Amino acid sequence: MRHLMSPLDFSVEELDRLLDLADDIGANPGKYAHTCDGKRLATLFYEPSTRTRLSFEAAMMNLGGKVLGFSSADSSSAAKGESVADTLRVTSCYADICAMRHPKEGAPLVASMASSIPVINAGDGGHQHPTQTLTDLLTIRSLKGRLNNLTIGLCGDLKFGRTVHSLIEALVRYSDVRFVLISPEELRIPSYIREDVLNRGHVPFKEVERLEDALPDLDILYMTRVQKERFFNEEDYVRMKDFYILDRQKMELAREDMFVLHPLPRVNEIAVEVDSDPRAAYFKQAQYGVYVRMALILTLLEVELPC
Ligand code: NCD
Repeated sequence: MRHLMSPLDFSVEELDRLLDLADDIGANPGKYAHTCDGKRLATLFYEPSTRTRLSFEAAMMNLGGKVLGFSSADSSSAAKGESVADTLRVTSCYADICAMRHPKEGAPLVASMASSIPVINAGDGGHQHPTQTLTDLLTIRSLKGRLNNLTIGLCGDLKFGRTVHSLIEALVRYSDVRFVLISPEELRIPSYIREDVLNRGHVPFKEVERLEDALPDLDILYMTRVQKERFFNEEDYVRMKDFYILDRQKMELAREDMFVLHPLPRVNEIAVEVDSDPRAAYFKQAQYGVYVRMALILTLLEVELPC
């Protein structure tokens, strides 16, 4: 039995196969409509979510399966003090696979150790968000036709933004990938990513503060919101929250074939006027998220695929 805690749990070859499967699902959804008949997905969400939870549920329904779960810690026995390990021991009796989001780093890993069904990390604190990374990889590969030879700008809250941490870890395994890390001083990438992932892997990267300086060189611009819920005080958040606003004027500095991604939710960091730019790919990205989660469920459940 396999769990998914980090994008590195899959080899590059396995990831390629998963993305190929997601492509086929997107092109031929009908073929997969009954592949999970009789199976159940539990969504255990201790933190707010729109896309991740709903796309997991849509993914399981698209495969013919059923879903159950909770969408806040308050409405689960966590409010009574139950451990995630115990919650997983019982969830294993009700479902075949589960996706867990939790504010504490490592909680899904602890849960997976007590589980007899595959556990998917759907975001653990400021740590990792592997299924957003699968979504991002599928989006980049579909739009640019490749995952190598890319200059990727990551902009915003690189300190607390878990999607950024997972995406960097996944992308460094492809050749000729360069990063431009665009953040205010206080929200720079954590040192474990800078040292253990980028420096140790001899990956080219630079850290800049001004988005305008980075824009002309990028193949992909990955915007993120400032992670309000991870700040220790409101004052710091207020000071940081509108540090970057991508608008039509700034988009003029970017290449015609650059794409803008964002895991969403957006707050102010992308002006609504950018949505109509053909390079704005963040809503398409949400659609890719359903295909890739369908592919992930099929893979972890080891379902025999239709030919
Ligand atoms: C992200 C998350 O939860 O980390 N959202 C998502 O799952 N698409 C990004 C965010 O909340 O800013």
